[in-house]
Amino acid sequence: MQPILLNPGPVNVSPRVQQALLRGDLCHREAEFSDLLAAIRTKLLHAFAPQDYTSVIIGGSGTSAVEAMVSSALPQGKKLLVINNGVYGERMLRMATAHRIPSVELRYDWTEPPDLGQIEARLEADPSIGGVALVHHETTTGLLNPVSAIGALTRRMGRVFLLDAVSALAGEDLDLVRDQVDICACTANKCVQGLPGVAFVLVRTALMRAMQDHPASSLSLHLPVHWQAQERHSVAFTPPVQACYALDAALDELLEESVAARVERYRAAAQLLRTGFSRLGLRFLLPPELRVNSLTALFLPEGMAYHDLHDRLKQRGFVIYEGQGRLQTGIFRVANMGHLSLDDFRRFLDSLEDVLG
Ligand SMILES: Cc1ncc(COP(=O)(O)O)c(C=O)c1O
Repeated sequence: MQPILLNPGPVNVSPRVQQALLRGDLCHREAEFSDLLAAIRTKLLHAFAPQDYTSVIIGGSGTSAVEAMVSSALPQGKKLLVINNGVYGERMLRMATAHRIPSVELRYDWTEPPDLGQIEARLEADPSIGGVALVHHETTTGLLNPVSAIGALTRRMGRVFLLDAVSALAGEDLDLVRDQVDICACTANKCVQGLPGVAFVLVRTALMRAMQDHPASSLSLHLPVHWQAQERHSVAFTPPVQACYALDAALDELLEESVAARVERYRAAAQLLRTGFSRLGLRFLLPPELRVNSLTALFLPEGMAYHDLHDRLKQRGFVIYEGQGRLQTGIFRVANMGHLSLDDFRRFLDSLEDVLG
């Protein structure tokens, strides 16, 4: 029996996506791979950004796509303002430092949304800030950051808006045009419901063209290197061919379901779970208005260690996820991403009730 994965990726995928792995061996310099690449890039734009955007496929995990975005988006000498209210905001700062990109930080508690007035003041005071970086779904806590408001503010202030949408895309309401996102990074193996190994960046075509003049701080993560090759229906480096097959199948599934219906399915699953958690007397880390559709962070029940809860649920077929950083020992996380049904979540709640006694 496959375990039910309630960690925020890699997720359970459909038999169709699993089967896609078996399409066979393929040389990435052959026409069949060029066709596969073109199909994936077209489907990505169809699903998420029909106009004025281009897509770039990156071999690697979500971190590679985010680092490619952070290291490529700004011209030399411009600073990056990073909004940091969790592990993944913090990670973007570390990426900027690693690439010698000057950065400034607006830091908030992990359970707090950012303050728009502070962002505006910081941008007004420092014209050398060229971009604002935000995490849409801060997976550390399941916190939903206000993308639309920060996108509008960033555009109004004439800066580039960078979004880490690794755990949000296809799970949250996001419209790159409406929300004024200039560039966003994502991975195949979370709400897109593909397999690990391939990630991607969606970027406004005008920005992508401008990036070609930015000096490269890395060879293998410099977005123009990938984009230029992919525009020629080629790839700069060896791609994860089989993970691309799986992504292609996952995108077919997503387009058949529709992104809006996927988001709604996740919302309904989270609602069912949260009603169950309340009934079992569990306490939520975040208030309802800050919670995403695809993950719930809960305080551990009094007297119960995470590993005990985890192991007893795993014996029953369910994999939950621990907290990170300073929340590691106090909370646990339950994601509802992937090819799962409401019945899977009902069975999980029954098992949880059983374990909690
Ligand atoms: C918001 C966010 N950004 C980046 C990452 C990094 O992705 P990966 O673990 O695939 O490198 C994650 C992983 O969970 C994430 O949730």
